[in-house]
Amino acid sequence: MSVQTVIVLAAGEGTRMKSSKAKVLHSIAGRSLLGHVLHAVKQLDAEEIRIVVGSGREQVEEHISLIAPHARTVFQAERNGTGHAAQLALAGINAQGTVLVLAGDTPMLTGDSLAAFIAAHAAGNFSASVLTAEHPEPTGYGRIIRDDADELLKIVEEKDATDEERFIFEVNSGVYAFNGAALAASIGKLTNSNAQGELYLTDVIGILKNEGASVAAIMIEDFTEILGVNDRVQLAESAAILRDRINDHWMRSGVTIIDPTTTWIDATASIARDVTIHPGSAIYGDTAIASGASIGPRTTLTDCVVKEGASVLESIASHSVIGESATVGPFTYLRAGTVLGDATKAGAFVEMKNATLGTGSKVPHLSYVGDATIGEETNIGAATIFVNYDGVDKHHTNVGDHVRIGSDTMLVAPVTVGDGAYTAAGSVITEDVPAGAIGVGRAKQKNVLGWVLRKRAGSKSAQAAEASEKKG
Ligand code: UD1
Ligand code: CA
Repeated sequence: MSVQTVIVLAAGEGTRMKSSKAKVLHSIAGRSLLGHVLHAVKQLDAEEIRIVVGSGREQVEEHISLIAPHARTVFQAERNGTGHAAQLALAGINAQGTVLVLAGDTPMLTGDSLAAFIAAHAAGNFSASVLTAEHPEPTGYGRIIRDDADELLKIVEEKDATDEERFIFEVNSGVYAFNGAALAASIGKLTNSNAQGELYLTDVIGILKNEGASVAAIMIEDFTEILGVNDRVQLAESAAILRDRINDHWMRSGVTIIDPTTTWIDATASIARDVTIHPGSAIYGDTAIASGASIGPRTTLTDCVVKEGASVLESIASHSVIGESATVGPFTYLRAGTVLGDATKAGAFVEMKNATLGTGSKVPHLSYVGDATIGEETNIGAATIFVNYDGVDKHHTNVGDHVRIGSDTMLVAPVTVGDGAYTAAGSVITEDVPAGAIGVGRAKQKNVLGWVLRKRAGSKSAQAAEASEKKG
């Protein structure tokens, strides 16, 4: 059974978020709330997707154009309730076939569950079906009212419910499947005679039932799938449940996660078998980690590629490639455009950006490598700085193969150090160093003999020097 039209309601103010950002744009696991909903909906292969936007319209429409360019947006200027939003979305709709309506603030739903719901709706040939769940803390949700025969009668909102109805644990998920014609015929009959003075989409169920149509409440086992996000407490709750769901998936796929409670993996990341993730790590965006890699502890990777057997310890990296068997960290910062070749090292307190490190090359300690191309099997001595910025423009540095950059060298860009060349420790290199040469760019040392004895007479240093002289 296919879905003709999906309507996503996303015009609400999201007042309870207390945010300048539209609620559905808040994100968990690397996707906006709306993005999660649209991701689940994708699996249904609907003919048409319509999204009702209102509050924060421009932000939301811009986001939709990025994540779901084929979806159509419908503008709801005033928030007169979910029923009003649905009325607007139905204008000019092809009423043939099934219409799925859901909210933009229920990010935990899976495509599988939506498909199963649609299948059950179709199998029962119902005019309307609502997806429900037994919620241990139902406060705030619409309650599912069934008759003595356990058949769905209507949905009652929290604010309109009697004390007795509030004790019902079966709640409305906000996901509905309708026979398009039945929905089109009943949506105009909504009234706002309720506690919130709004048109409730939920009332369509009671209206259809009263007219003798067949309506069904289809219950889902896992109530966490229907969680709605209305405030930031619920945002964090949903994020934690999604984190566990994602971690469980990767652990069952062969990834070792030492501490799943402190490991945060975005829904968009991918991780191969036999990767180990140590505590306190976050794998964000489109990061892809190949087998045998070791990540963390306390490492954050955003949009990175980590190749086989690499190790990243206590570090932060974004938009970077970490080569096979490369080692990174501890306390390393890899910024956009860093490409570490195979068997390379970016060691402790090293910052890199827009820089390529060739196979087998190392930047072991305390360096800044910005805007550089470094060849193979080269060693960058401790505390080397690639001086890439002249205060106005950024410049590039090229370092060849098998180069030995002495400790505390400054490579003032633009500059080139040829293959097999050396630089003397402490040099400021402003001129190109030809292949095989050593670049020495520092003042010659001069010792002033007896200076301490004359200028610091009687000091501990002077006494030590005198004792040393006596020893001969
Ligand atoms: C709604 C349901 C409730 C259900 C819950 C599930 C109604 C009346 N109530 O309550 O039964 O248990 O969802 O999460 O439908 N929206 C619009 N235009 C509006 C009002 C809302 O587009 O004028 C959108 C919101 O952006 C949101 C969705 O509809 O995505 C639901 O609105 P919300 O105010 O969050 O409803 P709830 O109180 O959560
Ligand atoms: Ca809601």
